[in-house]
Amino acid sequence: MTMDGSYDLLRSLHILAVIAWMAGLLYLPRLFAYHTAAAPGSEMDATFQTMEVKLYRIIMNPAMVAAWLFGGLLLWVDSHRHGGWAFASEPWMIVKLLGVVFLTAWHHFLGRARKAFAAGRNTRSNRFWRATNELPFLAAIVMVIAVTTEFSGR
Ligand code: HEM
Repeated sequence: MTMDGSYDLLRSLHILAVIAWMAGLLYLPRLFAYHTAAAPGSEMDATFQTMEVKLYRIIMNPAMVAAWLFGGLLLWVDSHRHGGWAFASEPWMIVKLLGVVFLTAWHHFLGRARKAFAAGRNTRSNRFWRATNELPFLAAIVMVIAVTTEFSGR
């Protein structure tokens, strides 16, 4: 396979991993919103806990690792293509990486919230989970526009 072919394959794998990661980041808080209505110790509580732990461990954690892995490889290949790391400090890349930092922090915040639900110690409301539910998607909009346009105006 040519160099360009493997770069495009890496991009495909990166985007697929990002899709799975985003699906989890958007769905887990939705489960939390419904979970707030279940009495700790009830059957419904147990069902939500199972759905949450499976989504987090089986989908979200591996998808985040894969998005980082393929994104990191793209960075590495880019550094060879551009003959250095100057591209990494262009505004679009800085915005992209800030988005990555935010999504990763949000992922871990959701992980802590999942543990609180599992211990019957959730203190956040249905309203909180519905109000914050769109944050990852807002970050994704900014990041996708950053990588696709590179803010070049062309
Ligand atoms: C997890 C850490 C991540 C790293 C290290 C990373 C890094 C990268 C790099 C280096 C590229 C190639 C950029 C280029 O030179 O064209 C890329 C492409 C891309 N990334 Fe990420 N990324 C990450 C996560 C994400 C997330 C969370 C999203 C979306 C919400 C995203 C969306 C995209 C898209 C759509 C492309 C393809 C852009 C194109 O080639 O036109 N990435 N990423």
